[in-house]
This record gives sequence, C-alpha cells and structure tokens, in this order.
Amino acid sequence: MPYAPGFPIPPSSPPRAPLNAAAPKSLLITGVTGLLGATLIRDLLLDGRSLAVVVRRSRKQSAAARVEAIMVHWEKTLGKRLPRPTVLEGDLTRPLCGLDADARRWVGEHCDELLNNAASLTFRGSDRAEEPWRTNVTGISQVLALARETGLRHVHHVSTAYVCGLRSGLVMEDDLDVGQPFGNDYERTKVEGEKLVRAAAEPAGGFLDTATVYRPSIIVGDSSTGWTSTYHGLFAGLRLGHTLLTKVTKGTTSGPALLGLIGVALHDTKNFVPVDWVSAVIAHAVQTPSARGTTYHLTHPEPLLMDMVGRLIQQAVESYSQDASPDDPDLCDEQWFADNLGTQLDIYKSYLRNDPTFDRSHTAAIAGHLPCPPLDMPTLMKMAKFAIDHEFGRKSPWLAAAETSPAPMQARRASEGIR
Ligand SMILES: NC(=O)c1ccc[n+]([C@@H]2O[C@H](COP(=O)([O-])OP(=O)(O)OC[C@H]3O[C@@H](n4cnc5c(N)ncnc54)[C@H](OP(=O)(O)O)[C@@H]3O)[C@@H](O)[C@H]2O)c1
Repeated sequence: MPYAPGFPIPPSSPPRAPLNAAAPKSLLITGVTGLLGATLIRDLLLDGRSLAVVVRRSRKQSAAARVEAIMVHWEKTLGKRLPRPTVLEGDLTRPLCGLDADARRWVGEHCDELLNNAASLTFRGSDRAEEPWRTNVTGISQVLALARETGLRHVHHVSTAYVCGLRSGLVMEDDLDVGQPFGNDYERTKVEGEKLVRAAAEPAGGFLDTATVYRPSIIVGDSSTGWTSTYHGLFAGLRLGHTLLTKVTKGTTSGPALLGLIGVALHDTKNFVPVDWVSAVIAHAVQTPSARGTTYHLTHPEPLLMDMVGRLIQQAVESYSQDASPDDPDLCDEQWFADNLGTQLDIYKSYLRNDPTFDRSHTAAIAGHLPCPPLDMPTLMKMAKFAIDHEFGRKSPWLAAAETSPAPMQARRASEGIR
C-alpha cells in the first residue's frame, strides 16, 4: 500500500523532487525519538498534520532509520499505515541545529511552525559547556536562530512544571523566575531556555509572532497500554524497589520503607501525567491558533500521594520482579543500598520530593474536552509491568527495532515509486 500522497518523504535530506505547491506546510519538530516526541508524531500524523523532524544519528543508525523504526512501531501498534515525516538530520548543539543551507531553504519553503520538544534530561552538571546546558540553553538559542533564519513565526516549546524549582504553595502558569531556589541543574536550564523562547516573542526585540510553552509535570507511560521508552520519575523509585528486591530476602523490606530510605514522606504528593494525555493536549494546542502565545501547566488535577507510590512499588515488584534467592551469596540489605547508592539516592530524592500546587486554568480553558486519565492502581500497575518486563530500558520499547534497518526502508520506497 503506498503512503498517503502529499507527504514529503526524504530520509535525511530535503526532497530533490519539487513538492506539490498545494501540499500543506509542515510542523517542524525536535526530540521525536524520545518518550513524548514519539507519541506526539503518532498523534499529529493521525490528525493529518504534515511533519518534518530534526533528529540526530545514533552510533548505529542514521536519523532516517531511527524515525522509520518508530513509525513501524506505531503502524504495528495501531494496525494501520501512517504517512512519513520528512527527516532532517541535525543536532541542537550545532550552529543552526546542524542543518545545511539546502535543508534550511527547504524548511523556509515547507514549514510554518516549530515545536521544540528536545531536551537533555541530565539532572546534574554545572559546566555550561556540557549537558544539560548544551541542549537546553545553547541548543534553544540554535533552535531560535533556525526559526529566525527560516522565517518561522510561531514557536511551541516543551518546558517542565519544575521550572518552579523548590517553590511551595500555588504556582501560576504565567510565573517563571521569581527568585526561587532549584533542586537541580536541569531545572535551571529549563528556566533559561523558557526565558530565551519568551524573549524571542517580545514585541520589543523579538522576531516571533507567538511563543507557546507547555509545562508537563513528571511524564509516565501510556495510560492504556503502559508503554514507555524512558524510565525517569516514577520509574526511578520502581527501579530501586525492583533492584532491591532482587538483592534482599523477600519480606525484609517494603515499598513504603524504601521511600523512607530516600527521605520521602508518605503524606507528600507528586504530580504524574500519562504521556498519551500530554501528547493529546499539545497536539490539540498546536493545531488551535487561538491557543498560541500562552503557557500551559500540563499537570494532573489529582496528584498522587507518595503512600500510593510506595504501595505501587510493593505490589509491582511482588507481582512482576524475580525474587532474590536466599542462597545468593550477593544478598544485601537496605543499609547496603543506603551506603552504596548515595549519588543515585540523591537523584531519586529530587524526583520524588513534595510538589507545590500547579494552577492549570490555561490548560483547562483549551483542553477541557481532554480529561486527564486517572492514575489509579490498575493503570499504574500496567506501567510498572511494562517497565519490569522491558528491564527498565534494556529491552527496546520499539516493536520494530530488531527488524528495521535503512536497507529495507530504501527498498520499500523505491518499490512504491516514491523516488
Ligand atoms: N520525562 C518527563 O518526566 C518530563 C517532564 C516534564 C517535561 N519534560 C520535557 O518534555 C520534553 C520531552 O522529554 P522526554 O521525556 O520525551 O525526553 P526523552 O525521552 O529523554 O527524549 C529527549 C529527546 O530529545 C532529543 N535530544 C536531546 N538532545 C538533543 C540534541 N542535542 N539534538 C537533537 N535532539 C536532542 C533526544 O534525541 P536522542 O534520541 O538522539 O537522544 C530525544 O529525542 C523535554 O523537553 C523535557 O524537558 C519531560
């Protein structure tokens, strides 16, 4: 079956053949090989939006092959064909995101908006020449430079609810830098990145017509399937429980005890949001011109009590993890973890600390018809099962990963007469 007509399909460079003049303009997106970005391209393509993506090559795969693996995954999951995005190989840390003059000309002619979703989720790093600064601050300058050079006037940017740092109380969607202290360098970089994007849309000195900012809280897996491709946030605590259970004798610890070990109070709350909802709201906002120019807290109206997270960890590892054998000579105890995992425990602490209240009036105004799915125990258990079954990322999340390579992709395109 041929791909839908009208969608540009070059693998890693702009199309050689002229596009149909009536072809819809594309949305240029970054970060589509990650958890949220991959879900976003699925949803936007299902909505019929034409897309172009900026992706870096990996050690083993070209940018085009990486995107193709994601597309084949979604086609298998959905049981239907999807049009392909145009793939532009690039890297946010390079000048103009590493797009050469031809690619930039192509963007100028064929794209009308930009959604910057790429980021480094490295939490610690004070050297501004390294991550997370390189991608989240220098990289955003390059994204904006690219938008300016190619004439893109509307930029959407994925930030984080945790630009609020260590604030407590009520945090409004228009708040940004109120002199708050931060929990880690990642949060600092996301504030600086957001400031750059907002400044680019200032009437004085800016060049954008609108900058729209989306601030999710901690993103977890898909609420209906449990699928995820990364294991931050909620999964960090679960992974600790899973690892501990495979190292200590069953019954000598518990999920709530583990949270105590990392200094989490069970009456604290944490805001988690399923990736399918975050993607649905962004996809809707990107395609709703009246939603432009605003900042949105993409947060759950009902944050989770840490007590429930403790019970989830307990129930999930008991149901899905492999128990430690009492005869295992490598058996440890909780104290061993406390003594040996100091740095990692700090990272868990900064993920699972108590949250402020996120005002979500702007989000409710544009996405009232998209209620956030409840994160009840059965839904969370589905996500935990996926994480444990996929060994927290050791097994690929992409159904197509084992069988997709650039060669068959080229062959299929040729046989379909695309070029
Ligand atoms: N996950 C959360 O809990 C959470 C919460 C709030 C906000 N957010 C925000 O949501 C967005 C998406 O996060 P995610 O969870 O989907 O992250 P993710 O799974 O780690 O994906 C990050 C994406 O950014 C790309 N990227 C990173 N550095 C790049 C660079 N220098 N050049 C080009 N691409 C680069 C990655 O490409 P590679 O595959 O090549 O590495 C990947 O596609 C980010 O802006 C993040 O700050 C995430």
